[in-house]
Amino acid sequence: MRILSGIQPSGTLHLGNYFGMMKPAIELQDRGEAFYFIADLHALTTVQDAGALSENIRDVAVDFLACGLDPRKACFFRQSQVPAVTELAWILSTLTPMGLLERCHSYKDKMAKGFAPSHGLFAYPVLMAADILIYDSDLVPVGKDQKQHIEVTRDLVIKFNETYGNTLKLPEPSIQEHTAVVPGLDGEKMSKSYGNTVGLFEEEAAMRKKIMSLKTDSTPVEAPKPVEDSTILGLYKLVAGPADYAQMENDFRNGGTGYGDLKKRLFAAVWEYFAPMRERRKEILADPGYVERVLREGREKANHVANGVMTRVRAAVGL
Ligand code: ADP
Ligand code: TRP
Repeated sequence: MRILSGIQPSGTLHLGNYFGMMKPAIELQDRGEAFYFIADLHALTTVQDAGALSENIRDVAVDFLACGLDPRKACFFRQSQVPAVTELAWILSTLTPMGLLERCHSYKDKMAKGFAPSHGLFAYPVLMAADILIYDSDLVPVGKDQKQHIEVTRDLVIKFNETYGNTLKLPEPSIQEHTAVVPGLDGEKMSKSYGNTVGLFEEEAAMRKKIMSLKTDSTPVEAPKPVEDSTILGLYKLVAGPADYAQMENDFRNGGTGYGDLKKRLFAAVWEYFAPMRERRKEILADPGYVERVLREGREKANHVANGVMTRVRAAVGL
């Protein structure tokens, strides 16, 4: 089974990225042949500062490796270093109905946030389909917000195979329903564009301050606190063991514990959860050539597979 996923280097990685996409992808690297990449071409749709982009690319690579992506198990590379991807994206675009892209939420959301409606932003799902199809991927672990893009990919496979004969493999999404949406500090979906994130590798004081600023209601210390939709509990569940979680839920229901104390416990659990990753990150940063070596090896393997699929596609369309 081939597993594929990508992440954009468009900012600092946060708890939503980790629990929504990175952790499930890392767990899957033991279950098949994994291909994970840094979607740097996609990031160009929103990051137009060259220095910031190259810094983000490097940071995402370091952080993903620190979180447990194991280059002995998974092929790890940069999207822009596989030229066949953009070639396939063009061929797919000639089959893509405008209406299919016009319906995409991510495009509509970006418009609503005031991004200039570029062709790249509009055609984003076509490039994403090429990312998936160029490696004959079977399974694509992503957060829930990417589900529609996988549906577009599947539609394009069906259209392509109807037009040119059976050439492309139909992929399946893999979405973690229980961590489908990680809440941010304001209770909305955690997202770098909402400024409500907790970064994976923030400094201790900064992370504590952020978690202590988490928005809560005004229930007094003595009173029982609502457990439904609680951001504190939602985040605590991700990082605490079942016994500690049950204890916190009890403290919510029984009253007598203030939100300040509950947030302190949340911070301690988040900090402890990421301790091994922080250690690994230090080791990675201490070996300056390591990340480059990993990405170079990944690039070779990815191109090998992609070129094989591209040969098939060219023959199918008559190029
Ligand atoms: P952001 O919303 O911060 O811009 P991205 O769109 O770059 O994040 O998402 C990268 C990956 O992380 C995607 O697979 C996405 O589904 C997942 N992801 C991002 N935020 C969350 C969240 N709050 N909960 C669950 N998954 C998330
Ligand atoms: N669009 C994805 C995101 O924003 C990143 C991505 C690009 C991706 N290409 C992909 C994810 C292919 C899975 C498969 O998170």
